[in-house]
Amino acid sequence: MTRFTVNGQPIEYRLDPETPLLWALRDASNLTGTKYGCGTGQCGACTVHVDGRAVRSCQIPIRRLEGSFVTTIEALSPDRSHPIQQAWVAESVPQCGFCQPGMIMAAAALLEQSAAPTDAEIDAAITNICPCGTFPRVREAIRRAGRVRGGEET
Ligand code: FES
Repeated sequence: MTRFTVNGQPIEYRLDPETPLLWALRDASNLTGTKYGCGTGQCGACTVHVDGRAVRSCQIPIRRLEGSFVTTIEALSPDRSHPIQQAWVAESVPQCGFCQPGMIMAAAALLEQSAAPTDAEIDAAITNICPCGTFPRVREAIRRAGRVRGGEET
């Protein structure tokens, strides 16, 4: 049994300890906002927060999460009022949408570390892959969210 907190709720997972977090979330907790893309740590579609840091959940066996706090896209902001979510809408970021939960989780973690990240910081932090090529809008949305959080914009 592995115990950790998911979206504010303590959970005991009775799964093989080697089960990747992605599958514990999707199959055992029915949190399907976190996506399976490559399964090899490359694409970032499976990005969630563990103890506030963006991680690729397909690469983390649940045995490593005992006592951790996991946040998924479902709980980033239940009413979608997080500045990054509002910026995503304002900049019309999504195209097909599949990779966007992971993108948003990576961007939200970046904004916690740097309120107004530079383009270089954005490029270094957001290594998620978007086959539709939404990167310019992703970058602009992160800049916008930074400005909103800094009080420069509403
Ligand atoms: Fe985890 Fe692609 S599914 S990085």
